[in-house]
Amino acid sequence: MLNEKVAQLLNDQINKEFYSAYLYLSFANFYVDLGLNGFANWYQVQAQEERDHAMLMMKYLQNNSCSVTLEAIEKPDIVMSEKSDPLTAGLEHEMYVTGLIHKIYEAAYEARDFRTMQFLDWFVKEQGEEETNAGDLIKKMELFGTDAKGLYMLDSELGARVYTAPSLVL
Ligand SMILES: [Fe+2]
Ligand SMILES: [Fe+2]
Repeated sequence: MLNEKVAQLLNDQINKEFYSAYLYLSFANFYVDLGLNGFANWYQVQAQEERDHAMLMMKYLQNNSCSVTLEAIEKPDIVMSEKSDPLTAGLEHEMYVTGLIHKIYEAAYEARDFRTMQFLDWFVKEQGEEETNAGDLIKKMELFGTDAKGLYMLDSELGARVYTAPSLVL
């Protein structure tokens, strides 16, 4: 069995990861409405990754004999009007999630729960990559998204993103 606080925080994080998937689907839908199907594809793939994060946490808890409680997923409440709104909200959201992961790590550290620390190492690294990706999107949009041709090219690039399963296997 895991430390109770650590297990509770991991259980809460499952919900946050599903919320992230939900949020990114709302971004994808915003771009579908704008006709930017490449941007939409990028966020659909991102949503799949977030679901994977939740599934990994669920599996980890179950592998450690903890039962999982699924709670209601909050409604995505980001108001979007400009093309770049999801991009900035996405970076902000990833920074928030990084903070949550760090909090769980901190609890595991305090409980001398080395197994969970080792499990979370992957997520700490993953959050670094997520922030970089989110920041890169903002930069690309600033550089190329301001004229129609550039936006078309950027949309095509983002349309090429394909889903790959997470490198962490439990
Ligand atoms: Fe995630
Ligand atoms: Fe994420």
